[in-house]
Amino acid sequence: MSKITPDIIMQMKKRSDPITLLTAYGFPLARIIDSAGIDIILVGDSVANTELGLESTKSVSMDDMIHHAKAASRGVKNSLFIGDMPYEAYQINQSKAVLNAKRFIEEAGCDGVKIEWFKNCAEVVKDIVKVNIPVMGHIGLTPQTADELGGLKVQGRDAERANALIEQAITLQRLGVFSVVLECVPDMLAKVITESLDIPTIGIGAGPYCDGQALVSYDMLGIIRTRKPKFVKQYTDLCSQIEKAIGDYKNEVKRRIFPGKEHSYTMKKEEVDKLKVNKNLK
Ligand code: KIV
Repeated sequence: MSKITPDIIMQMKKRSDPITLLTAYGFPLARIIDSAGIDIILVGDSVANTELGLESTKSVSMDDMIHHAKAASRGVKNSLFIGDMPYEAYQINQSKAVLNAKRFIEEAGCDGVKIEWFKNCAEVVKDIVKVNIPVMGHIGLTPQTADELGGLKVQGRDAERANALIEQAITLQRLGVFSVVLECVPDMLAKVITESLDIPTIGIGAGPYCDGQALVSYDMLGIIRTRKPKFVKQYTDLCSQIEKAIGDYKNEVKRRIFPGKEHSYTMKKEEVDKLKVNKNLK
């Protein structure tokens, strides 16, 4: 398998080849996701909730993101590797947006960055595209500005707001993004946007008509126990499996079952016999 590029992602739409995206925040999972052949690995700012125990993605710093992206990058060979620009990187510090996008590429080995829609999104995207950094847009429910959208809820249910989202998608395409994430929008709106664009749409909670699908890996693997949105399909329950393994370990240590002979190193008996047992040394 060869390295996936933004161009390949765009060609996949033309071939009607569904695009897959999962998030990763560190080396082990990134390596598994990459070798499973997932097209895009996103170091999402969802790291706030999944790894850092924070309530809001707004609290993740640029340094947090670089730290996680660097670790994940060591596990990525073939997937397109995208860094999620955190709130402070371009919404609080708009003048540092290009600099921060470059940090994802130069320090963390990312192939591009993702940016959530906000009021000055067009300017920021334009500046980043100008320095040849591939950009993935993100519209619909944009968690960094959820307060302005009435909270973490479905967006674009009425025609006025839906038309505004269509406008945003078209603006992003015009500015040169290579794909756009549609989060939490009605399936028919996602269909209209997908059919209106030449670049691929990647849905998360946007129904089946998008060009690709995304999930937060910790949700689909059941690594954390939180109330999951309707759109999440949990493919396994790692939380229960990990709890069981830890319980078994504890039990075996307490009952002196672990470690067994097979987990221990040995030395020859004649060497053991030469050991100086001197209780006074204690
Ligand atoms: O941070 C994240 O996990 C995301 C996904 C919702 C695509 O942006």
